[in-house]
Amino acid sequence: RALDISIIGATGAVGAELIKLLESSRFPVSRLRLLASRTSGGRRLRFRDEICIVEPLDEINDTQADIAFFSAGGAVSAKYGHLFAAQGALVIDNSNAFRMNPDVPLLVPQVNPNALAARPRSGIVANPNCSTIQLVRALRPLVTAFDVHQIILTTYQAASGGGLKGIDELLEGTRSVSRGRAPPRAERFPFPLAFNVIPQVGEIASEGVTLEERKLVQESRKILGLPHLRLTSTCVRVPVINGHSEAVYLELHEPVHLKQVHELLATEPGVRLYIDGTHEGYPMPRLLKDPMVVHVGRVRVNPENPCGLWLWIVADNLQVGAAVNALLIAKLAISNNIVGGK
Ligand code: A2P
Repeated sequence: RALDISIIGATGAVGAELIKLLESSRFPVSRLRLLASRTSGGRRLRFRDEICIVEPLDEINDTQADIAFFSAGGAVSAKYGHLFAAQGALVIDNSNAFRMNPDVPLLVPQVNPNALAARPRSGIVANPNCSTIQLVRALRPLVTAFDVHQIILTTYQAASGGGLKGIDELLEGTRSVSRGRAPPRAERFPFPLAFNVIPQVGEIASEGVTLEERKLVQESRKILGLPHLRLTSTCVRVPVINGHSEAVYLELHEPVHLKQVHELLATEPGVRLYIDGTHEGYPMPRLLKDPMVVHVGRVRVNPENPCGLWLWIVADNLQVGAAVNALLIAKLAISNNIVGGK
């Protein structure tokens, strides 16, 4: 049956992508409720042939829905997530609020679909961090086939990871600096991002490690089911509007054969492999032809160490890293009769 859907954070960067995806994927929607902060109350957004009026979340009385997609930040999820779940909704949460909670599956449908075999007791499913999703989708066949000693990576994360305000901050800063003026004061990022590279994503958590770097380790371990996976990263914000890139080094316990890696990646659903020396070369955020898949290039064995493998992974962080994953979770919940069964 068609479903009653709420989107919390409907006016944000991820919310907008989700609305577009629901529209283009012919998802069975009977009612779409769009919720945001008071500032957006009354805004009119088109969905299919209808105009939906955005409602302020803190003014609604009922929180009933079949599925509630949350993408309005951790504080909003923490405050309202359980309210929607208690009223029967399956909450699909894009924030950091519940990801490490043992009663909340952390789900990437291509990687650990079995985590959603039944309705979670909490009524909540978490969407991982954007950098984690593209990483684990590319790593899945490799960690399954090989005995991995450790993984070291650097991320190159786009401004859209900071939402629409993050994109505005980059664009305004770029215009100012291009005209010889100082960029506006940074709000979404620790420093102005235009013409800059910032080696900090999220707060510094502990021992000099940022929240983003910690999420990558904890979330990858939980999704891949490898609690002892050795993974370390430096997460960097770069002046790209949209599309996260990652330079990933895997060190295995055994020599790695490039042909086998090519085969594993070329046959992994939802992963597109770029072979060095062909006309396509390698993926870049500016040239992402398909925002639904994870793009992997520059695959090479370390000439100094036959057990070392480099990958360059690029994906649309708003789509693969958020909206697409959330929608795939919803589809999995439908096919497992967790929602929409009545
Ligand atoms: P609004 O547009 O009304 O501020 P982004 O990640 O692009 O910055 O978007 C964040 C989303 O979360 C927006 O839709 C924003 O609504 C919404 N949001 C932010 N704070 C709240 C809140 N306190 N209650 C409900 N929605 C919120």
